[in-house]
Formats: sequence, C-alpha cells, structure tokens
Amino acid sequence: MTFSIAHAEQELHKRSATLNTRWYPRYHLAARAGWMNDPNGLVWFDGWYHAFYQHHPYSTQWGPMHWGHARSKDLVHWEHLPVALAPEGPEDKDGCFSGSAVVDGDTLALIYTGHKFHGDSSSDDNLYQVQCLATSRDGIHFERQGQIIDTPAGLHHFRDPKVWREGETWYLIVGSRVGDTGQVRLYRSDDLRLWQEDGILAEAQEGMGFMWECPDFFTLNGKCVLMFSPQGLAAEGYRNRNLFQSGYLIGDWLPGQQFVAQSEFIELDHGHDFYAPQSFLTPDGRRIVIGWLDMWESPLPEQQDGWAGMLSLPREIRLGADNRLRMTPAEEMAVLRGSYYPLLAQQLKNQSAPVVEEAEAIELELVWEMNTATAECYGFTLGDGLRVFVDAQSQRLVLERRYPQFALEGSRSVPLPAGDRLALRIFIDRSSVEVFVNDGDACLSSRIYPQETQRQLAIFASSGSATLSSGGYWPLDK
Ligand code: FRU
Repeated sequence: MTFSIAHAEQELHKRSATLNTRWYPRYHLAARAGWMNDPNGLVWFDGWYHAFYQHHPYSTQWGPMHWGHARSKDLVHWEHLPVALAPEGPEDKDGCFSGSAVVDGDTLALIYTGHKFHGDSSSDDNLYQVQCLATSRDGIHFERQGQIIDTPAGLHHFRDPKVWREGETWYLIVGSRVGDTGQVRLYRSDDLRLWQEDGILAEAQEGMGFMWECPDFFTLNGKCVLMFSPQGLAAEGYRNRNLFQSGYLIGDWLPGQQFVAQSEFIELDHGHDFYAPQSFLTPDGRRIVIGWLDMWESPLPEQQDGWAGMLSLPREIRLGADNRLRMTPAEEMAVLRGSYYPLLAQQLKNQSAPVVEEAEAIELELVWEMNTATAECYGFTLGDGLRVFVDAQSQRLVLERRYPQFALEGSRSVPLPAGDRLALRIFIDRSSVEVFVNDGDACLSSRIYPQETQRQLAIFASSGSATLSSGGYWPLDK
C-alpha cells in the first residue's frame, strides 16, 4: 500500500462517521478515528498551540505511523487539522515515528524519525531509524525535506528527536539502544539541516533500561531536567509497575559536557496509563507536559468503537525545593468549568454519600483531614469500577480500577503526603481519570471504562470515620 495524506484524510472521514462515542473524550484530545499514541511536535507557533501525535488512520491498531495534527488557541479546545505527515518517502517508508517541533523564524519545523526496514521487517537487523525534517509556513501543510541524520553505524533503535535552541545553536537529542543499554545522544547544528555529533548526553546505568524512548531536556529553576521513557526497568515494590515507565532525572549540564544526574530516576505519574510525555513552553514561559494516556500492551476497549488512545491533560511542571517535579493541570483548564457545586463539610462513618448521579466530564475537589480519620479506607468511588482512596493500613493513596470484562483490574498507589491535609483534584472524562495530589505532589492517571450504569460518583469511609473538610465539583463542558 502506498500512503498519502489525501488517502488518510478520506479514510478518517469515512471512519469518524461511524465512531461509537460512549468512551470518546469530551475534553481531552484523541484522534478523529483510528489509532493514536505519543504526543509529538508540541509547540506554540503563530498564535496557535499545535499538537501532533503518532497516528494510524487505517485501523484501531498500531500500524505505519502518520502524524495526526490538531491546534488550539487555549490548550483546551482543539481543532483537528489534516494529517501532517504520512510515510511517503524512502526515508520513512515504514512510519513517521515520534519527534518534536521548533519555530525557526517564520517557519514551523518538524523533526521526526523515519522508520524503515531494508528487506525483511521481522528482524531488527534490517531496521534503520533516521532523523528527518519537514517544514511549513502556514502550520498546516508540510514540505518534506528528507533525512538530516543517518543511523549511526551498528545502531538500529535510534529515534524520537527533541530539538531546542541555545543562543545561535540548535541542539537535538535522540533516544538509542546500544546493545542492551539505553542512551541519549546529542547533536548540534546551525541550520537544522547539517548536524554534528556531540557525544552521549546520558546513558543507562545498571538496571536502567535497554532503550530510552522519547527523551526531552529542559531547564527549570536553573536545574536541568532529563525526561525520558525507559524500556526494561524491573518492577520493584510499588515502583515501575507498568510495562514501560516515564520519568526524569534532575542534574546539571553545560554544552560540550555530559549531563551529571543528581537524583535517581523518578516516575512522573503513578497511574496505569501515562507514557512518552513531551514538554513545550507557553509564550508566557510555563513548561507544560502532555503524555499519552495509555500504556503499551494494555487492553484498549475503545478499539471496538473505532478509535484507540488519547492524550493527557496539559500539565504545568515546576521544580520543588526538594528537587522533585510538581505537576498540576494547566490553568487554562478552568475555562471548562460550569457552575460550582460545593459539598458540605461532613464526617462519614461507615457510609457512602452520593455526589453526582452521572460523572462523565467533571472536575472534583476533595479535601480530607488525615489526622482525625479512623477509617481503614476513605475516598471516592465511580460506580463499582473505580475507587480512589486512602488505605490507612499501607498509608497510601490508592487508585483501583475494576473492569474485569476488559481484563483491566488492579491498583496503583503513592505514599500519603506529609501533613494533615489531603487535597485531591480529580479530572474525570468519559474513559479517563487523572488525580492530582496536594497541588502536584503526585499524580495518578488511568484509563477507565464505565458502563452507563457505572458513573455515579460517591464519597465514602469504611471501617471507621473520616472528615471531608471541604470539596465540590464543576461539570466540564466545551
Ligand atoms: C513510544 C514509541 C516511540 C516511537 C513511537 C512509535 O511510545 O515507541 O519510541 O517513535 O512510539 O509509534
């Protein structure tokens, strides 16, 4: 099959007409139809935020990757645009893999991985990944400029370029696999076309993964943050429970030198579904991150509905004094709020209290008093499929989902924050939940698949009492 943007558009037009929208997000970005994975090319250009993403328009399964495209004035209301890249050239014949975008004067430049096999595609020995460039003046139509960096000798996995500028120099990092060691390689250029190798920015120490996907590198409060998605970390207690992780190292870096990490690897999100996050800057200087709100090899029940995959909320990240990132929903999310429904401050004792009959698209705030609680468990439920609660015995905040008909069952958790107060800010959409703990201390994001009868939201305390000191919710609408 030969691919083209026109053909992809025809296909999407046809497929989007028959979508079942029972789980299709009301206010998150998802593809019009077909498959979506990583966010790509997040950038502000000429008055618009642009979000591209890994996309297979021809089926709900991963396949030859295209770049889907949407834009927004406010990070909240997204307008779908035509597919930006299709695997049309010899350099990307088997897929336009992940990458980034930068603004170069009046041009929007996409730098992405061309994925291709030379011969039989069942062997990695025949795999070549090269970095490619495409440019646009209108931010909608892109001209392919072809390959700009070839696969280094001996490598096969070499992908996901992230580009930024320091002074007059463009830098590019790319994830790679050398034997069984994940690496981030660095390149330098004056014009985005001619690139010089600049060494290895960072590499996996023992146990830190065989491949580092989707690296990103930026400064916050004078510290450098290396964010990446390592493959091959072993689960350890409550950590690294998902198939692949995404997280960061904090450290220092000066051009011409290696990155020196001063922290251990910390996961960015502790839910079931968050991967391949990418960051970008808003015009007023905030660092925002968006991730794929899914996990490789996890069931995606919406595939039966004609689509698969969604992106997370845009989240602002800041660096705390403890050298950890704090992640909170971008302030723009407040534009979705309808009327506010406050909850009464109340003590619950071995009981549950209804909050909303049908929580399909809402933002909920719950502030619990941790010091006075005697309950073994307290928190909220969404039908009988989702529970987010304090487990007093393990002293953890737990997100538990139970959709056994889709083979999605199990929990993720984080330690309770220090202090007396547990403030949860929760965003529920038709098939997702994102929980922000104590203003960014921790975050848990998971896909959920409620039936129509499983959308009642209630708060509860069991085996004892717990006090909700304040709370309320906003229905969210576009
Ligand atoms: C991460 C990833 C990237 C790759 C893309 C392919 O989820 O595996 O490394 O570029 O997805 O769709």
